[in-house]
Amino acid sequence: MCGIVGYVGRSEAAPILLDGLRRLEYRGYDSAGVAIVDGDRVETRKCAGRIADLGKLMTAEPPAGTYGISHTRWATHGKPTDQNAHPHFDQSGKLALVHNGVIENYQALREDLQREGEHNFTSDTDTEVLAHLIGKHFEASGSNGNANAKSRLVTAVRTALQQVIGTYGIALVHKDIPDFIVGARRGSPLVLGVGKEENFLASDVSAIVAYTRDAVYLNDFDIVAVEREKFEISSLAGEGGHYQVSKVEFTDEDIKKGDYPHYMLKEIYEQPGSVRDAMRGRLSAEECTAKLGGLEMTTAELRAVDRIVLTGCGTALHAGRIGEYIIEQLAGLPVEIEFSSEFRHRNTPMTGDTLVFAISQSGETADTLGALRESRRKGYRTLGICNNVASTIARESDGGVYMHAGPEIGVAATKSFTSQVTIMSLIGLLFGRMRHLSTSEGSEVIDALEALPAQIEETLKLTDHVKEIAKKYARSPGVLFFGRQFNYPVALEGALKLKEITYIFAEGHPSAELKHGIIALVRPEVPCVFIAPDDAVFSKNLNNMEQVKARKGPIIAVTSGGCAKRLEGIADDVITVPSAPDFVMPVLSVIPLQLLAYHMAVELGLDVDKPRNLAKSVTVE
Ligand code: G6P
Repeated sequence: MCGIVGYVGRSEAAPILLDGLRRLEYRGYDSAGVAIVDGDRVETRKCAGRIADLGKLMTAEPPAGTYGISHTRWATHGKPTDQNAHPHFDQSGKLALVHNGVIENYQALREDLQREGEHNFTSDTDTEVLAHLIGKHFEASGSNGNANAKSRLVTAVRTALQQVIGTYGIALVHKDIPDFIVGARRGSPLVLGVGKEENFLASDVSAIVAYTRDAVYLNDFDIVAVEREKFEISSLAGEGGHYQVSKVEFTDEDIKKGDYPHYMLKEIYEQPGSVRDAMRGRLSAEECTAKLGGLEMTTAELRAVDRIVLTGCGTALHAGRIGEYIIEQLAGLPVEIEFSSEFRHRNTPMTGDTLVFAISQSGETADTLGALRESRRKGYRTLGICNNVASTIARESDGGVYMHAGPEIGVAATKSFTSQVTIMSLIGLLFGRMRHLSTSEGSEVIDALEALPAQIEETLKLTDHVKEIAKKYARSPGVLFFGRQFNYPVALEGALKLKEITYIFAEGHPSAELKHGIIALVRPEVPCVFIAPDDAVFSKNLNNMEQVKARKGPIIAVTSGGCAKRLEGIADDVITVPSAPDFVMPVLSVIPLQLLAYHMAVELGLDVDKPRNLAKSVTVE
């Protein structure tokens, strides 16, 4: 949700900033801008539209200079217009600021500034108010004389941020202070990239990994003063900040599309490896259980858990919904799944030994972070299931399980979902083996999990078949998805994928709910996708398909094993995935739905990796 890149070094800043923004475009892509300082001029280019549009502006009139800041926006306050695009300036026109987050009290601050004196605002954004506020404090400190300009600017940032209610990741430059950038964060991620005679700031390491793999993940309330050859971190309260330089796990190669036309397709095809990596080193054939050292809990503590709450948003929530079925089945523990946005604001009664898992690919989703904080505030042990190493959720949780899925760039989540579902099975196995699962049952779970990567490979071979189906239905006015038990959340996820990238109206429901209203939507133009593998509820699904058939609704069935035969004459299109036990089936059954959404979007000529209005990481409420 908005991406920031800053650079100070010896190279020309423009190509580095633009390249970084391209890599952060998944965070927002409705407008973009840069401010680069060249001697006594702040060169600004900004416009509504994609990074490519900004690129054209920059090629037409290349801004020179070796330090600057840049931004790709996902609008919160103010429409995506040229005017509202970042950077924004203070009243003097010398200070330029980019911001990710929301300044909640910006109206009050704006009114105060206007009352105090000459403050002319040229945009509708909260960011411009912050730029004016910092600028005001900086100008005021000038009259006191003695402190040097760099520390005066840091102090002005600190003073302004102490007045702010809300969230921010910011970067700013001042025309009169050469080779100097100030960054700060609260609630929105910001990483410092440490290079040789150059340093970087970015919302995410993917923006800078081509230049350096040494990173400092800033903490909330950190303020960082960045120069070419040094940096200094202090806290909002004015104390010296503690930091650690970490090595980024992945390389620039990992975030390239390679020969794939879209990141989404690349990531769908990475799933045999990403699911394997989610399990790597975590299965013990000897003890017939899962080993999850990152939970940081003793056996006795794990044994004492009597309830699990799973929370997340979007795709992560759907993975959690499957987790509810998996953990209840394997471990016999009561599990609840909650939208993070609801959980954080309601007073869920939680009993003594409740364990909470916050599931988030990015580890930065504001609502999930809010849920995690609320849960910890109440004293519950709260663990993270994240992909992004050192993300805020990963760092603020009491422990957790990393997905190790590698960077996911496509806005529509795919491989993170199957990794999350795999981790749900590991958790189910771990808790199950401490309760009623025997060694042989534990072994069977391990066998089923270990078979998955090869079965995903098999499932991916269905892509041409799915593509044909996609062509047939790409212009449908709506699509309904149905499933039962473990595959009900798969129906939700299939519908979400389709909505996200094709903009076709889609809904997912438990199959049996069909007759409670949804059946009114069934007609020849609206295909119904049934996820109906060979399991205990297949016959029930079949009944529901008959009900659709009787009303001339086209049926696409995702099934497994011998059930394909039983669908002859009922389903119009049948997709058969490999047979697997019910608790791992979602990892396979979701893949044709990912491919269906993908090929439908391609057929419609849509921008698969950057769907309209969406952002991959939603760091605002
Ligand atoms: C956004 C994205 C979704 C994602 C959700 C949760 O809405 O568009 O694709 O599933 O956030 O993201 P997280 O990073 O917390 O898993």
